[in-house]
Amino acid sequence: MQNHGKRLMTDKTSSPNIQNLNTSGAAYGTLDASFQAAGGEQGVKQLVDDFYDIMMVLPEAKKIFAMHPEDNAISRDKLYRFLCGWMGGPKLYREKYGPISIPQVHKHLTIGYAEKNAWLTCMQQAIAKQPYAEDFKEYLYFQLSKPAEVVRNSD
Ligand code: HEM
Repeated sequence: MQNHGKRLMTDKTSSPNIQNLNTSGAAYGTLDASFQAAGGEQGVKQLVDDFYDIMMVLPEAKKIFAMHPEDNAISRDKLYRFLCGWMGGPKLYREKYGPISIPQVHKHLTIGYAEKNAWLTCMQQAIAKQPYAEDFKEYLYFQLSKPAEVVRNSD
């Protein structure tokens, strides 16, 4: 069994968790089980739209939203495409933007605990809004906390 999402990340960022089985019996993190559990492309798109909608209004996320380029549609497109591949679905980021290293694309930013926590809070609230299975919500948040720690480059 492989964790396809893992391939786009560094070794530190994710690992398969075979304890988490979805309703069809496939472990989240293997093949495209996570992508399917998230509702495929439309499901991931909704997650990312909710994520950035929350980031735009949450007081503690003001600073990290301000770090983004002015055209938020591009950031939404990039994160949506990245997460599809990261969850084992189609490699849509690579198709449009080429290869990516998550630590590298955040290198020019100062991301400490406050920024990491703000990002994860937006993600937690966005995940809570989705019609996902409860165990998948927990699994997804836990998995995303790993690359979030990897991009932290300050205290
Ligand atoms: C931990 C806190 C994080 C903060 C504060 C943060 C912030 C940002 C910001 C400000 C940008 C825009 C950079 C620019 O265009 O100059 C960005 C881009 C991006 N972030 Fe994050 N990020 C975080 C974590 C993550 C994580 C965990 C992932 C993946 C799971 C991720 C995926 C991406 C992607 C795919 C892009 C687009 C890269 C590109 O092609 O330019 N980010 N992030």
